[in-house]
Amino acid sequence: MTDSPSRSGVFAASMDKRLEAFSESISFDYRLYRQDVRGSIAHARMLAKQGLITDEEFSQIESTLREIEAEIAEGKMPFRFELEDIHMHIESQLIERLGDIGRKLHTARSRNDQVNTDFRLWIRDALDELDALLVDLQRAFLSRCEKDAGVILPAYTHLQRAQPVLAAHYWLCYVEKLERDRGRVADCRRRVNVCGLGTAACAGTTLPIDREMTANELGFESVAANSIDVSSDRDFVIESAFVLATIAEHLSGWAEEWILWSTVEYNFIKLPHEFCTGSSIMPQKVNPDTLELTRGKSARVIGNLQTLLVLLKGLPLAYNRDLQEDKPPLFDSFDTVKATLELAAPIVSGAELQLDSIGDRLEKGYLDATTLMEHLILKGIPQRTAHHLVGTLVGLAQKDGVSLAELSDEQLKSAHKSLDSSVREVLGVEKAVKAFQSYGSSSPERVQEQVHRWREQLQ
Ligand code: ARG
Repeated sequence: MTDSPSRSGVFAASMDKRLEAFSESISFDYRLYRQDVRGSIAHARMLAKQGLITDEEFSQIESTLREIEAEIAEGKMPFRFELEDIHMHIESQLIERLGDIGRKLHTARSRNDQVNTDFRLWIRDALDELDALLVDLQRAFLSRCEKDAGVILPAYTHLQRAQPVLAAHYWLCYVEKLERDRGRVADCRRRVNVCGLGTAACAGTTLPIDREMTANELGFESVAANSIDVSSDRDFVIESAFVLATIAEHLSGWAEEWILWSTVEYNFIKLPHEFCTGSSIMPQKVNPDTLELTRGKSARVIGNLQTLLVLLKGLPLAYNRDLQEDKPPLFDSFDTVKATLELAAPIVSGAELQLDSIGDRLEKGYLDATTLMEHLILKGIPQRTAHHLVGTLVGLAQKDGVSLAELSDEQLKSAHKSLDSSVREVLGVEKAVKAFQSYGSSSPERVQEQVHRWREQLQ
């Protein structure tokens, strides 16, 4: 009978094959093999220190586990559904090679604390990888600040041309968003970095184990204080899925913007052709598929968060087999966001702003209207009045098909007696950008300060 090692002598029949296939997790949790080996070695080392196994037994367990790990890495471990998951695949190999010594590894441990620990170790590594990718993308945006120095773009609100801003100001906006993503990664990592190993099934163990030691061995910052909690807790999975979903949201918004910008209608940006696709029928097409998939795949990542929230809603304490379903959504979110970030960085660095059509667009749209209004406020005109007056001037200019700067002195005066030709000092997008003052604004000095700050931070 090749039945699961988790079926004790109490069973009168072996498992139905359909249940074996239904309940296996090896097809996805094989990804935890390195963490499982690492956790098992730390656990065995602790068992030896506590006299629960001998030093000689520990050293055989350790070297055999490393052998098994190397074989799995080489793809030499066939999946056997009757062994259910990665934990039992590795342990059964150990037992096959070491006999009774291998049978001692599971002392003072359950798969419930084991899987919690393995997944935390995996997520911790994944978060570190994610953080490095976020920095790469921040650097790509930062490097554009130099490349596009002095370039002015129209900023939009409601997707209507709003105010002129420096391109660098635009790029640093993404750097800020990504920095908040990094903050969430770091925050989440702290709660991931807690060791549940040794809490066993749900109540702890009667055996004299040392949980501090295993936690230290595995680089965890603290030891989880409640065994029932460890057995049931997947908050760290939800939180990681949320962190990933927020990154996916940011990337999706950026992708949408650049898809628009790359259209003939906007023609603000030319995407690097290595990351575009063609049409099988229309020879002229260069399609922004990478960006469309960035936007499209975010749906999966957002959906995975929902899946996890629903999965965990209303589960009674402590371990329930439902918990096994936590891995595919998180693995998928991580893989998707990782691949997206890896593509985003070279697209950001390689895209070219189309200065002619940007310049053309800057001239229309009365982007300097707000600056003119603020100029009037400085002359003592109440904001509401100034707002109304400038609106009237925009109306005049629109009727004549001219810019605000092109209005005649008489036209300016007709709106308000204090409007002399000195207003032209703030008109036109370049002057309007220079006129910004406030911290966080698009003024060239302010933006330069921010570029310096980020350069220092990201170098
Ligand atoms: N394959 C299971 C999982 O991933 C391992 C834990 C099983 N524990 C149990 N009590 N049946 O969740």
